[in-house]
Amino acid sequence: MAKLSLKDLAVKGKQVLVRVDFNVPQDENLNVRDDTRIREALVTIKFLIEHGARVILISHLGRPDGKIVEKMRMAPVAKKLQELLGKPVLTAKDCIGPEVKKIAASMKDGEVLLLENVRFHPEEEENDPGFAKQLAELCDIYVNDAFGTAHRAHASTEGVAKFVKQAAAGFLMEKEIKYLGMVLHEPARPILAIIGGAKISSKIDLLNNLLNKVDSLIIGGGMAYTFMKAQGKGIGKSLLEADKVGVAKDILEKAKSKGIKFLLPVDHVVASSKDAVSDVKVVVDIPDDMTAFDIGPETISAFAKVVKESKTIFWNGPLGLFETDIFAKGTIAIAKAIAESGNVSVVGGGDSVSALKKAGVKAKITHISTGGGASLEFIEGKELPGIAALTDK
Ligand code: 3PG
Repeated sequence: MAKLSLKDLAVKGKQVLVRVDFNVPQDENLNVRDDTRIREALVTIKFLIEHGARVILISHLGRPDGKIVEKMRMAPVAKKLQELLGKPVLTAKDCIGPEVKKIAASMKDGEVLLLENVRFHPEEEENDPGFAKQLAELCDIYVNDAFGTAHRAHASTEGVAKFVKQAAAGFLMEKEIKYLGMVLHEPARPILAIIGGAKISSKIDLLNNLLNKVDSLIIGGGMAYTFMKAQGKGIGKSLLEADKVGVAKDILEKAKSKGIKFLLPVDHVVASSKDAVSDVKVVVDIPDDMTAFDIGPETISAFAKVVKESKTIFWNGPLGLFETDIFAKGTIAIAKAIAESGNVSVVGGGDSVSALKKAGVKAKITHISTGGGASLEFIEGKELPGIAALTDK
């Protein structure tokens, strides 16, 4: 169902409460280390400023568990936002209460206020209706642009929408729904999914839903070895989820019955341990005393060929232990192959984004999701509460 969009609204002179996901990584001095999520929200914020709204931003930062945690205050984020916007950003000591109401009511058109960390209140994660109502009282219109938190049914992402007349999707939220939705509903075909990462257990629902959507499926990373075990192959000491071999078998069978091209690594970069630099080598058959930490050159060629032949590519999860340079070659090669293919590429958040950065190809990807858990749940086919709660068109 189509949701109300920010562009459908008359915002001039209105107090607009925007839920953003400013849950950004910080360094040891609390400076923002990666401002991607703030930059991605600028389209919505600038639109509201230019159209004369009074912009009240609300976010969580970290997991303070309903208590005030000094190092999780929003001040460093406000500083970064101010820098990126090139205009002052007002701040408040809380996100509800008379003081905040007073600041909000005295704002001028085009001004921006960033409220304090909403998770300092336990009622946020409890999705407490009284708390949600207090948030709603700060605004005429509510906008949710926090795709990264849309899988949480919290007061500022879900509950608040019940107490406002209009709850609209912001531009980042719309962009995420458009590209992730394209993977599920109307991809240019053939469509390929590349799924990596350590464990099958966190990706069973994702794989099962993708099997209904894709033409080809590539599995890499630690999880590939449970699949190889399910095929009866030797995996040495490589990562194995023994209790998931049955699940892997079912997935392999389902893929076969649907005629999906299913690719697993055919050669491997192995070592006796992840710190053993001296005995790293490429093999086809994994020796009993060795562990596979990356895909080998034959696998890179085979995977890159399918990448080239596909019109849409969805990627989530690294294909090896890419944090260690010696085992990062496979992930980087595939990141480059995706970027250079010129095909529509959609990358789910988390480690795959770090891999794109390491490969230096971020700019060539069609869409990089700002959501980790949220993008996974979206591709799993689940309804995200933060989207469902918005006003239908
Ligand atoms: C994220 O970083 O994935 C989102 O901001 C959600 O954070 P959470 O996992 O603490 O709810």
